[in-house]
Amino acid sequence: MIQLEPHTMAKRLAIATELVRSAQRIVCLTGAGVSAESGVATFRDAQSGLWARFDPAQLASQAGFAADPGLVWQWYMQRLQGVAHAAPNPGHVALAHLQARSADFVLVTQNVDDLHERAGSLKVIHLHGQISQFHCNDCGLRYSLAEADRSAVFPPTCGKCGGLIRPSVIWFGEALPESALDAAWHAAGRCDLFLCIGTSGVVYPAAQLPQIARRQGARLIEINPDETPLSPTAEIHLPGPSGVILPQLVAQLG
Ligand code: OAD
Ligand code: ZN
Repeated sequence: MIQLEPHTMAKRLAIATELVRSAQRIVCLTGAGVSAESGVATFRDAQSGLWARFDPAQLASQAGFAADPGLVWQWYMQRLQGVAHAAPNPGHVALAHLQARSADFVLVTQNVDDLHERAGSLKVIHLHGQISQFHCNDCGLRYSLAEADRSAVFPPTCGKCGGLIRPSVIWFGEALPESALDAAWHAAGRCDLFLCIGTSGVVYPAAQLPQIARRQGARLIEINPDETPLSPTAEIHLPGPSGVILPQLVAQLG
């Protein structure tokens, strides 16, 4: 966690506010940090991160699902329940306000929760899928599941092909949804301001988006309590929780 002198923080916030005010086309990329203050665990934080406590190879890969489908199913159903009980935090709400006051604002998230939507954000691009949606792992048929299926200890099977049903989140080694990727790529390639919020910036291709934006001349603001590999390329780094910083930014915009 980086602590800045209060006047340094105020100055950075003032510059960031001006950048937002003068931007014509804004793209915002969010990661797990945006939902941290809603009680949804991040992936890579040292103590509390999911990948500090669980093995991604076991829980987020085809091989892991094949080895123990019940374990994988139950893990995602527990996370789904956690998300269902979580509420959007002031950071999600501030981003929805930002979108409402901007003529051209594209929100791209790596998060599989629906907290942006529940805060009022529209047309959210989910690069890594959504934990409340399901499909057959074999034939791809989409499913929405009843509560009873969600509490099962083994994944339900597909009515069409008998394959196992799984949550529609992207596992390691899997391709990102093409339409989401295309839309995000296109937006990053034409924005004049890119906001990078609550992401460690180490998972590709998502982490490429701020780089694409930067290369074509967009300004870059990062909001994250810690530095990330993206920080050196950011014009302004606002160190702090997004649930605190984003409402301050929106308040300063007036
Ligand atoms: P990470 O867990 O890798 O990073 C979370 C980031 O949020 C870190 O840089 C933290 O410093 C920051 N952070 C923590 N609390 C914060 C707060 N209150 N406000 C703002 N920032 C905060 O999560 P992601 O970057 O989202 O993939 O991870 C990317 C992908 O890796 C995820 O989408 C997931 C995972 O494997 C899939 O599910 C496919
Ligand atoms: Zn099927």
